[in-house]
Amino acid sequence: MQIKFLDLKTTHNGILEEIQGAIFSTLNSGVYIGGDSVDEFEASYASYLNCKYCVGVGNGLDAIKLSLMALDIKEGDEVIVPSHTFIATWLAVSSLGAVPVAVEPDIDSYSIDVSKIERVISEKTKAIIPVHLYGQPADMDKIIKIAKNHDLYIVEDAAQAHGATYKDKKIGSHGDLVAWSFYPGKNLGAIGDAGAITTNNKDLAEKVRILGNYGSRKKYINEEKGINSRLDSIQASVLNVKLKYLDLWNQQRRSIACAYLEEIHNDQLYLPSKICLADSAWHIFPVRSESRDKIKKKLGNKGIETLIHYPIPPHKQKIYRNDYLNNNLEITEKLSNELFSLPMGPHLTEQDLDYLISKINSTYI
Ligand SMILES: Cc1ncc(COP(=O)(O)O)c(C=O)c1O
Repeated sequence: MQIKFLDLKTTHNGILEEIQGAIFSTLNSGVYIGGDSVDEFEASYASYLNCKYCVGVGNGLDAIKLSLMALDIKEGDEVIVPSHTFIATWLAVSSLGAVPVAVEPDIDSYSIDVSKIERVISEKTKAIIPVHLYGQPADMDKIIKIAKNHDLYIVEDAAQAHGATYKDKKIGSHGDLVAWSFYPGKNLGAIGDAGAITTNNKDLAEKVRILGNYGSRKKYINEEKGINSRLDSIQASVLNVKLKYLDLWNQQRRSIACAYLEEIHNDQLYLPSKICLADSAWHIFPVRSESRDKIKKKLGNKGIETLIHYPIPPHKQKIYRNDYLNNNLEITEKLSNELFSLPMGPHLTEQDLDYLISKINSTYI
């Protein structure tokens, strides 16, 4: 038996005609930048998240970058980021000449360790970027309190958290701006690059829209040093179809996570914390093992594809290594050596899940 980590083709099979119809309709409209499909998606996604504004952009990295630009983050400013995250969180900060200041994760939740944020705040600190990593919301109440006390902005990196809730409120408007990626493999994914920013702040929504459109509100009148990063009309038409299925797919992910949590019994594997079950969008189901590489290989030999999120942390990458030599980021390094991710997504059948669990339970080093 072969079980893929993620299988988008299978997931799309059931809605192929709807997707084709939506693409065809955009093609027929003759409007390929903006237009009805983008307007519809922005309105539907804002309504789904229960927030006021959604602005489509080109991808998730641009969504973070444009959010920081709208808050006037610039060269020399410091922005607090989790050390355990996908590199895009850091790159968005660096792309503006600002400095990513790393904070270690909590060893159980893998989210930014909120108790360590205040000690890195300096006069240069302008913002915090909590990342809802693996679909699990960071502890927003505490982060909001710290941000208020120190007059800092919050830009949430919600690239992995479509449909996740924090204390019964959907992720999408806790911080000043919330950055989304619709990279194909996300819980809500396009068929190419796509992203969005959500917020309840009208001025910020307007600012990110202008910044992503060459700094222009009116054609050929340029008010800001902007970039070109707009949600593609074809991608928006696909997202309009897929948004209708997001809750169903997230429910399937939750059931898979429940089965993993209840039925995996292997004392060489640490499972993610159960407290988070109600809130996570379960983009990723991370497990941790001191024998990670060997277990991963054995599972691979049994036809089970697993991935590592992420094998090299940002501060160990060539582009950042020299600047972070004095940072003691032990937990991040431990996680990059021990974590791996089990297959997760609506493509998994009950039969797949039974096979997965029985093989995981019988794989020891
Ligand atoms: C946590 C996180 N932040 C940012 C991004 C960047 O998104 P994109 O690939 O759409 O640029 C991703 C996904 O790729 C991500 O997982």
